[in-house]
Amino acid sequence: MSSQPWYPPFPPSGGTQDVFFPRGGAGDLPTIVAGEGAYLVDDSGRRLLDVCSGPFLANLGQGNERVLNAMIDQGRRLTYTYSRTTRHRANARLTERLAALAGPGLERSHLTSGGSEAVEMALKLLRAHAVATGQPERHRVISLMPGYHGATLQTLAMNGDIASPALWGPLTVASEKVPAPLTFRAPSAEAAATESWAAFEATITRLGAEQVLAFVMEPIGGQASGVNVPHPSFARRVRQTCDRYGIRLVFDEVVSGFRTGRFLAAQHDPEVVPDVVVLAKGLAAGYAPLGAVLVSAALVEEVAAGPGFVVSHSYDANPMACAAGTAVLDEMVEHGLIEWAGTLGARLRAGLEELARRSPLVGDVRGRGLLLAIELVADKATSARFPGDADPGAVIRRYGLDHGLLLYSRRQNSGRYGDWLLIAPPLVIDEATCDDLVDRLGATLAAATDEVLSPGP
Ligand SMILES: Cc1ncc(COP(=O)(O)O)c(C=O)c1O
Repeated sequence: MSSQPWYPPFPPSGGTQDVFFPRGGAGDLPTIVAGEGAYLVDDSGRRLLDVCSGPFLANLGQGNERVLNAMIDQGRRLTYTYSRTTRHRANARLTERLAALAGPGLERSHLTSGGSEAVEMALKLLRAHAVATGQPERHRVISLMPGYHGATLQTLAMNGDIASPALWGPLTVASEKVPAPLTFRAPSAEAAATESWAAFEATITRLGAEQVLAFVMEPIGGQASGVNVPHPSFARRVRQTCDRYGIRLVFDEVVSGFRTGRFLAAQHDPEVVPDVVVLAKGLAAGYAPLGAVLVSAALVEEVAAGPGFVVSHSYDANPMACAAGTAVLDEMVEHGLIEWAGTLGARLRAGLEELARRSPLVGDVRGRGLLLAIELVADKATSARFPGDADPGAVIRRYGLDHGLLLYSRRQNSGRYGDWLLIAPPLVIDEATCDDLVDRLGATLAAATDEVLSPGP
């Protein structure tokens, strides 16, 4: 590997995405020149283990031959055709696989180019259904604080992000926010679930149940809550409440899909079948932009029997993306990667718990399967959070690069709900790589501790 940078000195004429980022932090970004399995290689030849699969996304790692070949074959046969004026087999193959994996109640998939688009598409479909079935007053959306659903205007307004209203408020229609059932620092996970559910009920009463279209939640959290795993009673009670009032329950599984030991996090509890599931990220695992809205055939029939739902983007059900998605699912099923996420996740979690016992920075380890997080604390005895102007995750990320780790953390809500590192490696890693990750993370935390606990002026 050459030590010469492949790229002209910064800033090049066009720049890269980070020219839009705030000055200061972007200078630390490594320039990646290659990918090898679960590793990325930077322009100085460093091999970095992709600890969070990008943002919970590159589940198969880099350069998977089956997926690449499927895309080439598809592109040679049919590169593009418009889903509004034609239909094609790659679309049908992918939705058949999704229906088989998702099971009864989620037989239909509307395909999009990513997660935010899919969350919005879900709401548009539900609104169309409400109107088609004589409930035009249903339009209010409820979501959790903290929570994350995307970066389009409508999803920004649904995010549980305290900074969002001031910046985006004038352009958006905000959802109603209910406190998320955060487990760490709560008297118990069950008490947190009861409190959040009670707030959900109170919000419905305040808005008027007949006005409420949908409740959108991450069944297991992602970056906004540091992979909060609510007590099971939360989803069960929410399901009952939604049934009572005719409110649609949407599970945003953009992060939790594929990673928790089941295809969907929803499948851990057969008592809770959501009305809609949103997938993206791991669905095409970085090989193509792809998202999906999974919903029942019955609901789609009710809309199609009336005005129908013809809301589309030009790239919806793109043949290349469909081929990538189908090959990703084939690869996951044939190699048992969904189950492997559960098995290896238990090993990784045990390693992180051991590491938490040693490190003064780690207050909590949580998650399910290969969707994990460690919560960073300023004082382990009191579980104290870091001040609003600190960013412990950013400091640790920098040390991680020196230890061969590409870490992911993204401070939200000025640390009001805590700070964390997200640990969600590609599903293809083996036990030795898993153990190596834990060792390197331990060394990273040890090296970063002084700076994190006593940041300079
Ligand atoms: C839970 C969740 N929903 C939706 C999204 C939006 O997905 P995308 O970035 O593909 O638009 C994200 C992205 O991080 C997410 O974490």
